Amino acid sequence: MSDIGGTAAPLLAARDLAKAHGRTRALDGASADLAAGEILAVTGTSGSGKSTLLHCLAGIVRPDEGTVTYAGERLDELPEKRLSELRRTEFGVVFQFGQLIPELTAVDNVGLPLLLAGAGRAEARQRAGEWLERFGVRGQAELRPGALSGGQAQRVALARALVTGPRIVFADEPTGALDSLASEQVMTALVGTARESGAAVVLITHDAQVAAYADREIRLTDGTVARAGVTA
Ligand SMILES: Nc1ncnc2c1ncn2[C@@H]1O[C@H](COP(=O)(O)OP(=O)(O)OP(=O)(O)O)[C@@H](O)[C@H]1O
Ligand SMILES: [Mg+2]
Repeated sequence: MSDIGGTAAPLLAARDLAKAHGRTRALDGASADLAAGEILAVTGTSGSGKSTLLHCLAGIVRPDEGTVTYAGERLDELPEKRLSELRRTEFGVVFQFGQLIPELTAVDNVGLPLLLAGAGRAEARQRAGEWLERFGVRGQAELRPGALSGGQAQRVALARALVTGPRIVFADEPTGALDSLASEQVMTALVGTARESGAAVVLITHDAQVAAYADREIRLTDGTVARAGVTA
């Protein structure tokens, strides 16, 4: 159940976001709410502003206009230092194009956020290995990203986003390079982890079967939220 329309304040709330890339208005008055523990699918055609919305929600990109409030803090106004701390401790992000560190092996990519949070190397490697296992890529632990398939890299990126136990996971097309069986496996692992830990998820997808894992779906059209509803 979402809190929308209820009394509890949403964990994350975006209001009337606008963001231009040069002359392109990627976001044009987009609003969205995310309740604690809620899984929200964001759908829409290519170029409709999904990735831009996710970047604004996660405090990676500052909107030109509008507000983003996370647990009472205005992300759109926070100084960069506090933003990067939040991204490190409270958020996990899976970018549309992976963005694993090419020089590090899969297990070290996943362990990196733990090292940044102060864990020792052995502990980081062990916990990273468990997350790789969960996403079915433990066998690839010692490979660098260049040696991984697209789908394997996406699983490693998901493991890296979840390893620190974030309150919100932002995932941009996390199954975009996977066939339908692998998509199901990855979504089962992602949703299972989120339900277990109480993490909320913002999930961008163009795949209706993937969106069906969400509690609710919003659809972007030309940078604005066209339709809000509950998924089947
Ligand atoms: N860095 C950028 N520079 C210039 N234009 C950009 C940039 N990023 C996005 N855009 C433009 O902004 C619009 C929205 O892009 P965005 O990446 O948010 O769409 P999307 O819905 O994620 O698309 P896709 O489904 O193809 O990933 C598009 O017209 C895109 O070309
Ligand atoms: Mg995108």
